[in-house]
Amino acid sequence: MNVLVIGSGGREHAIVWKISQSDRVKNIFVTPGNPGISNEKKVHIVDIQSPTIKDYVKLAKEKNVDLTVVGPETPLVDGIVDIFNENNLNIFGPSKKAAQLEGSKNFCKEILNLGNIPTAKHMSFSDSISAINYVKSKKMPIVVKADGLAAGKGVFILENKEEAYKLINDLFTGKIDGIKTSLIIVEDFLKGEEASFICLVSGDRIIPLASSKDHKKLLNGDGGPNTGGMGAYSPTKLIDDKITEKVVKKIILPTLEELKKVGIKYKGFLYAGLMIDHDQNPYVLEYNCRLGDPEAQAILMRLKSDIIDIFLAVTDDKLDELKIKWEDQSACTIVLASDGYPGKYNKEKIIEGLDHEISGTKIFHSGTKIVDGSYVTYGGRVLSVTSLGVNLQVAQAKAYDRCNQISWEGKIKRHDIGEKEINNKFIFS
Ligand code: AMP
Ligand code: GLY
Repeated sequence: MNVLVIGSGGREHAIVWKISQSDRVKNIFVTPGNPGISNEKKVHIVDIQSPTIKDYVKLAKEKNVDLTVVGPETPLVDGIVDIFNENNLNIFGPSKKAAQLEGSKNFCKEILNLGNIPTAKHMSFSDSISAINYVKSKKMPIVVKADGLAAGKGVFILENKEEAYKLINDLFTGKIDGIKTSLIIVEDFLKGEEASFICLVSGDRIIPLASSKDHKKLLNGDGGPNTGGMGAYSPTKLIDDKITEKVVKKIILPTLEELKKVGIKYKGFLYAGLMIDHDQNPYVLEYNCRLGDPEAQAILMRLKSDIIDIFLAVTDDKLDELKIKWEDQSACTIVLASDGYPGKYNKEKIIEGLDHEISGTKIFHSGTKIVDGSYVTYGGRVLSVTSLGVNLQVAQAKAYDRCNQISWEGKIKRHDIGEKEINNKFIFS
C-alpha cells in the first residue's frame, strides 16, 4: 500500500521510520518531511509551497494513497480528516470537532467539567479587567493559558500577582510573541508529577499505548519556561496498572462519553497530559489530539507490532481485534536544541557527528536541513536522540553518550532526562 505522512518533526520521523518497517507498505510520501525522514526506506519527499488541505487531498489522489497519517495538530484542528473522508480517502486522526479538545482549551475544560473529570479549577475570560479581578482573589501561583494552539508556549505559571496582571494585559493586546488570543483561561496551580497518557481511540474502544513521560521545562530540575518537550522516556512507573485503571475509568472513558453526548465520535490518538498528585490521583492538564513529541520517539522505539495494523484498526473500527506488542526494554529520548529556544534562536549551524550509527540508538531529526551537502540546524528542537536499554539508566546513558558525539555552535540539552525515575525521587516514591 501507499501511505502519506504529513509533518516534519522528530515525531513524524519516528512514525515514518516505523511505517517503513511494515511489509505491507510500498511507498511512503511525506510532506514536507526533513532530511532524516528522507533517508528512510521507501520515502518520497513531496514539497508543496504553503499547502492547504485541498493540496493534501490532491496529493493523496495523485499518488493513490491508501492511508494518510497526520503528525501535528494544526491540520487536524483545521479539519483535514473531515475533508479526506468527504473525498473517500482513508485517514488516521480525529475529526475537526473532536480535535477541539486540543484546539480550544475552553472546549476541553467544558467537556472535562461536564463529565466531572478531575482537572484544575478554572475560569475563562474574554477581557483583561475580569481576568485581573479574578487573579486578585486567588492564591499564587496561578496558571494562565491562552486559548488556541500555541505549540506548548501559551501556558504561563505565575508566582507574583503584578506579573500576572501584566501578562494578562499583554496576552489580550497581542504583545506576546506568536500568541494571539481573545480568550484566556486562569486556573489553579496543581502540584505533583507529570506524565503523558496516550491512547488509541475508536469511539468508545480504547487501547493505552506504552506509558511515557516528557520533560516540558527548558532547564534541569524542571526550571525555566515551558517548551514543546526536552526529552522523554518509556515506560514510566508513574503510570502503573492502578493509575492506568484510574485514568481510563475516571478520565478517558468519561471524556469519550461527554463527546458522544454532543455528537462527536473520537478516532485517533488521544493524549492526556496528566498531573498525578501526592495521593496518586491523576488530573488532566490538557488534551492533545495526536502523539506527543518527543514521547512518540521513545514510545515507537519500543513498538514491536506493525504500526500499519495499529492505524488500520482505528480507521476500520477494529480496535477490539488489536494486540500491540512492546519491547520490554526502556527507551530514552534526549532532545538537542538550539540555544535561545523556546524563544529566538540561530539557524543553519553546521551539525557534526551524525554519520555513524550505533545499534539500539536512533537519531530522529526534529529541525534540520541540508545546505551545501551538510546537515544544518533549522529549528528550535533539532534532533531527538533515542536509545533502548535493559533499563532506563542504561538507555539514558547510551542516549547521552551519543548526544556527546554530536556538536554545533549553540547546541543545548537537559542533563537530567529520566533522572527522577532512576533515583526514585517522585513525590510519592
Ligand atoms: P499544557 O499545555 O496545558 O499541558 O501546559 C503546559 C505545561 O504547563 C504542563 O505540561 C505543565 O507543566 C504546566 N501546567 C499546565 N497547567 C498546569 C496547572 N494547572 N498546574 C501546574 N502546572 C501546569
Ligand atoms: N511533548 C508534549 C507535546 O507533544 O505536546
